[in-house]
Amino acid sequence: MKLKQTLSAITLSLMAAASYAGEVEVLHWWTSGGEAKSVSVLKGLMEEQGNSWKDFAIAGGGGESAMTVLKTRAVSGNPPSAAQIKGHDIQEWGRLGFLTDLSDVAREENWDSVLPEVVTKVMKYDGDYVAVPVNVHRVNWLWVNPDVLKKSGAEVPTTLNEFFKVADKVKAAGFIPLAHGGQPWQDITLFEAVALAVLGAEDYQKAFVNLDMDVLSGEGMTEVFIQFRKMRDYIDPKYRGRSWNSATSMVINGEAAMQIMGDWAKGEFAAAGKTPGKDYLCVSAPGTQGQFTYNIDSFAFFKLSEEADRKAQKDLARTILDKDFQEIFNLNKGSIPVRLDMDMSRFDKCALDSMATFKSTSTNGGLVPSVSQGLATTSYVQAAIFDVVTNFFNAKDPNPEKTARKLARAVKAAM
Ligand code: GAL
Repeated sequence: MKLKQTLSAITLSLMAAASYAGEVEVLHWWTSGGEAKSVSVLKGLMEEQGNSWKDFAIAGGGGESAMTVLKTRAVSGNPPSAAQIKGHDIQEWGRLGFLTDLSDVAREENWDSVLPEVVTKVMKYDGDYVAVPVNVHRVNWLWVNPDVLKKSGAEVPTTLNEFFKVADKVKAAGFIPLAHGGQPWQDITLFEAVALAVLGAEDYQKAFVNLDMDVLSGEGMTEVFIQFRKMRDYIDPKYRGRSWNSATSMVINGEAAMQIMGDWAKGEFAAAGKTPGKDYLCVSAPGTQGQFTYNIDSFAFFKLSEEADRKAQKDLARTILDKDFQEIFNLNKGSIPVRLDMDMSRFDKCALDSMATFKSTSTNGGLVPSVSQGLATTSYVQAAIFDVVTNFFNAKDPNPEKTARKLARAVKAAM
């Protein structure tokens, strides 16, 4: 009821700006409980403005399957109105000439002044807005079931060393220490959290953004692989192919103690009716306090031929950055609003911590882009990293030192 009232209030204010009714077909991969709830807010608002919403949902966290389907559609000359496209991929689609210019909406709505620069530069191709950001997700979180830790006689770990000690206790008490889904993007999510802890933000940036061969192949990276591989001893044998939200459910229902995952996991806890600080805890991934690995969800907008659909597209662009939408969407999604001028009073401690760390790291160098989410580097380099890291994680007896050198070689070949 409350949701309905809020949606109607938002709609009234948006209707004043909206002009014409058309259709928006929107490609996304938000199909888990928390995600579906969040995206339905956007659908509801578009429909209330008189536009029709054609849902183009392709399941699969990280969006790999969604991107494959999108390419086929776009190449056959029939792209959707908007698609969930992030980071460097926006530039790649822009270069191919598929994306439409949203500068007029951006000017009317002052996007340049309400959005942080780290965000706007990702959304623009050749100086023009071609994508609209939805949120900021922090990726380097540890999600904890406090009850399981208590039963295991363990405290919340703050360093990697502590993490392994706690994990031993949890294992001895008969629980799964770390919930994990063995899909490449989830392996990299774990890997980048360990890399940030071991290398620190500066070398993380050198390795994965500047693609510095010395850091990629060096001793620090060998240590990253050693620590990363140790994590596998604390994951249950059925991890391969498991979805990220099934892993989150294992923490929610007390089967597992912890999960390292972006704060879309909070959307699952919220959808299950759980309260942060009581039923679950959100803390920095071990060893990454005061650092922030960012993932920015965004929709890129395609060139369309129908005038009514182009107008509906602009309604969508405007709606995504509407303040009330930003609030309600991000409350459900687990992320923080992407606008800097928001009232955060309805947000929980996890979101407030995230916002504070996002702001402090924006100026002190602790803000780094996520590799697993495509924010750090091109899709080609990202694919090379995914390959080396996933193979290492799943191999029988892999060699960390050789793998660090292999990583550098693979990245170089993809540059
Ligand atoms: C990410 C996306 C998040 C979340 C996650 C799991 O790629 O940015 O919003 O949905 O996948 O599906």
